[in-house]
Amino acid sequence: MTAMPEIVVPASSLVVLVGVSGSGKSTFATARFRPTEILSSDAFRAMVADDEADQGASRAAFELLHLAARRRLERGRLTVVDATSLTRSARSSLVALARSSRRPTVAIVLDPPLEVCLERTAARPGRSVAASVVRRQHDALRRALADEPSLASEGFASVHRLTDPDLAVNLRIEPRRTADTVRGTAGTIPGRTSRADRR
Ligand code: CTP
Ligand code: MG
Repeated sequence: MTAMPEIVVPASSLVVLVGVSGSGKSTFATARFRPTEILSSDAFRAMVADDEADQGASRAAFELLHLAARRRLERGRLTVVDATSLTRSARSSLVALARSSRRPTVAIVLDPPLEVCLERTAARPGRSVAASVVRRQHDALRRALADEPSLASEGFASVHRLTDPDLAVNLRIEPRRTADTVRGTAGTIPGRTSRADRR
């Protein structure tokens, strides 16, 4: 019997979920993180357009998502981006914004078999995604994983790929280090990062 894989997520980091529609990103995020930690592209589309499926609202939605991520990371709040993040540019803008707040970024690639994703998107009540779209996304993910330089060299502190359809993994959030509290001349400033935390 193989042990369940473990993912360690540093406190105050940015977690970028990567996966095609139906791979289980939102399910995983909701099960493993607090609601306020999750920034979902669908939720931001709904916020600006009253329709989470309105792709025409994506640009505005991501502007807000990036701003929210930036403001959270400045405060050292663990932040999870629930979007497909299948393009290099989508991922690199997230890595860059975390870096500007001196926070590490962890990629979690949700990569169950394509057939599972197709079945799930077809069966999902409400929002349906065409099979052709899911297949295209799946090709994009294959390229991202195979290309040189690969996803692993895009500036992530770590990259984890989960292929099990149930996404069984032991996810551990590293507690904030006491060194996260920096003593300044005006006293103790909670929430500032130490040099050791800057990667
Ligand atoms: N699902 C499931 N078992 C899992 C994960 C997901 O049955 N382990 C189901 C969900 O209940 C949902 C569907 O599969 O009906 C798609 O999962 P979801 O988390 O919504 O996938 P996302 O990757 O978030 O898809 P999208 O990019 O379209 O938001
Ligand atoms: Mg989702």
